Amino acid sequence: MIEKNFIFNLNTKDTGASGSVTWQSPSNIALIKYWGKTDPQIPKNVSISFTLSNCNTQTTVKYRPKSSISEDFDFKIFFDQKENQSFRRKIEQFFERVVPYIPFIRNYEFEIHTGNSFPHSSGIASSASGMSALALCLMSIQKSMDPHLSEIDFNQKASFLARLGSGSAARSIEGPLVVWGQHHSIFKSSNLYGTKYSGEIHDVFTSFQDTILLVDKGEKKVSSTLGHKLMLGHPFAESRFEQAKDNMNRLIAILKNGELDSFIDIIEREALSLHAMMMTSDPYFILMKPNTLEIINRIWNFRELSGCHICFTLDAGANVHVLYPDKDKKAVRDFIDKELVQFCQNGQFIHDNVGNGAKLL
Ligand code: DP6
Repeated sequence: MIEKNFIFNLNTKDTGASGSVTWQSPSNIALIKYWGKTDPQIPKNVSISFTLSNCNTQTTVKYRPKSSISEDFDFKIFFDQKENQSFRRKIEQFFERVVPYIPFIRNYEFEIHTGNSFPHSSGIASSASGMSALALCLMSIQKSMDPHLSEIDFNQKASFLARLGSGSAARSIEGPLVVWGQHHSIFKSSNLYGTKYSGEIHDVFTSFQDTILLVDKGEKKVSSTLGHKLMLGHPFAESRFEQAKDNMNRLIAILKNGELDSFIDIIEREALSLHAMMMTSDPYFILMKPNTLEIINRIWNFRELSGCHICFTLDAGANVHVLYPDKDKKAVRDFIDKELVQFCQNGQFIHDNVGNGAKLL
């Protein structure tokens, strides 16, 4: 697939319908991290993530034809039932990027209602679930004009549009594992959209658990978007992109054989490499907090003592994702309650698990 294949040529006789559509779209946690991109939202390396389940965004888009023709995007955005101005610029930028592929959005006025299942400003990135939910709603509107669109094409284009909103959103359409970015060993992998991982997946990974420890809920000092930019010209960039490619190769075998010690090694290495890139960029920055390191050390200690296959990963922030197989759920959750909750801001954490993707409600 190339970009121009995603252009939907509107047949004027099909415009004019009003309606409403609602999608619930999950967050995801990257195992191999996307860090570094070129325009327009093209990743510098392959990434793969577990799709989550409990952390999600629900978005309703109400649409009706504009009463008078104009080139402007006409929309209102409500977050948790209240009109929200701070999201306007993001949505406008998103519309500007996607309009070549869904030109009909200029002919409609929209009311967008959105909300997250996780607490507001929890530090959990909502851009993946938020942008994918919105992209899916827009695809449902396309589908109402183009009923023959297949499920495969629908999902592929939803991911393509979501990527233009936020790179990681490309991985929030399907589950349980989604790859985004070209990789020579992964059939049909693409820089333009995420694809459900089609290699063999050991059972242990289809019920994997992720407890998200909310270490710091404040606004991040450096946004992901700026962090990605700092990879251009970064002294270690090329080796980092190579490392991600090699880690993907290793992970393909592990996803098949279910070998958890090697899984842990890759997952933690990826998280620390991501943060090492931040610490060595120009300007350099640190997003981990003292409690992030406390938690990591406690996890290492507990792993050694208990033999549980627990590990951590991080995204671009201080929060810690604690990953563990379902078989270790009881022991790990007891450990979290006893030893890790004290390091969470206001004792907050979220139990989540691998999920199967977005749902039309
Ligand atoms: C560290 O998708 O938030 O979570 O494309 O600029 O919106 P933009 O960035 P974003 O970056 C996510 C980075 C990450 C790693 C990952 O999810 O792969």
